[in-house]
Amino acid sequence: MPTKMSIDSKATDLDRNADNEPDPASSSSAEAPGTPSDPQPMGAPSATDAIDERPIASGQKASGQKASGQKASGQKASGQKAVLGFSTQSVHAGERRQKPEGSVSAPIFTASTYTFESTDSLLRFVDGLEERDEYGRYGTPNERTCEAKLAALEGAEEAIIYSSGMAAIVGLLMSRLSAGDEIVFFDQCYHRSREFCTKHLARFGVVTRQVPTGDFDAMEAAINSKTKMLVSESPTNPHLTAVDLEKFVALGKSSEVETLIDATLATPYNSRPIEYGVDFVLHSATKYLGGHNDLLAGVLCGRSEALAPVRALRGVLGSVNSSHNMYLLERGLKTFELRMQRHNENGQRVAEFLDSHPRVERVYYPGLPSHPTHGIAASQMRGFGGLITFLVKGADWKETSRVVDAANIPRIAPSLGGVESLIEQPLVMSYYHCTPEERQQFGIYDNMIRMSCGIENAEDLIADICQALDA
Ligand SMILES: Cc1ncc(COP(=O)(O)O)c(C=O)c1O
Repeated sequence: MPTKMSIDSKATDLDRNADNEPDPASSSSAEAPGTPSDPQPMGAPSATDAIDERPIASGQKASGQKASGQKASGQKASGQKAVLGFSTQSVHAGERRQKPEGSVSAPIFTASTYTFESTDSLLRFVDGLEERDEYGRYGTPNERTCEAKLAALEGAEEAIIYSSGMAAIVGLLMSRLSAGDEIVFFDQCYHRSREFCTKHLARFGVVTRQVPTGDFDAMEAAINSKTKMLVSESPTNPHLTAVDLEKFVALGKSSEVETLIDATLATPYNSRPIEYGVDFVLHSATKYLGGHNDLLAGVLCGRSEALAPVRALRGVLGSVNSSHNMYLLERGLKTFELRMQRHNENGQRVAEFLDSHPRVERVYYPGLPSHPTHGIAASQMRGFGGLITFLVKGADWKETSRVVDAANIPRIAPSLGGVESLIEQPLVMSYYHCTPEERQQFGIYDNMIRMSCGIENAEDLIADICQALDA
């Protein structure tokens, strides 16, 4: 008995009927622009590329340079498929051209259940002859529109949306792992991801092996016949370490183990791990993808075949999102490229300012040459995002709190990637209940501050953090 709606393989066609009505235009065109099997060269140079941002070539790793002769977004040479720009995709992918009542924006489908005209129509559905909605736990029209947009932006065959980033991690690992299996992950990561693996998966007999971030020899040594998945963030939270995706994928392939990258801090604008061959890419869409600090969501991207059982389990776990949230996500995605350009610019400028400030001991930002993984980041990212972690020179935890409290523009809160700048002291925010030994192990210091640069003006953020440091 079918329990899910599968994503239309033409999910990213601009004219795709997001409500699953037949779309004759797309059904005849196997090579329609923007189909998941045709990842868009989203990094092709465009007029909107900021000077300090690196383009990412289509279907290959970032070159760090604009390749001469590369087609600009939207150009189409004879015999070539049309190339749609990143924003064109984020505005239009997955949407019907003509929506109910001629509305330009998406109606919010609040229904928890979907009606059948007759038993015959129900039979067509259960026999798999008709794709349509059935019950909200298996997907909704609003969710599918966002999934199509995110698959297009990520260059993935398919995307699955969850109620949060954590729900996406849990959903994938619960689907992929069984008692006795093992996973190996790089140890710098979001603390709840680590907690889920070490505390909760362990209760179901899954072993988690943590190795130092970026140490591929240690990762290889930790792999054995029971290993099912290699897991990493890139860049990592909160140390902003970029992981060499080429090496990560090579190790996964040579060991015949699947790979997962949590690319929340990078976003598909700055990095597209699927182009390197990563099996699953995950984002907390609560962050840059939603972008307005007003929703929780997670997304998992990958090959349709690999995601089919993961989607089926989501329908059982019930970790779906609401149509209201999906409307907010869809709306947020429309300005995604514009916001990311500003986040990248603000992050770089504030990081450079902090790097030069006498009260700052160290800045963790992959766009700074002083970051240990700057070379890796520069070769595989187009920009470095808005998140910056730094240490206040010689400060104890109280002096560090005073800097946080003196900031007027960034508000004190967890999370990142929204239009409003946020600031926090990891010791007090996320790691307060850890022992000093655990904090030492996780690289969390008393004088550490994490700042998420929003889309305010960089000069205002710099002036504000300057006065906070000087206060
Ligand atoms: C890197 C990373 N992954 C996953 C998550 C979890 O996402 P969510 O808060 O949407 O559950 C977070 C949250 O901060 C994160 O920073």
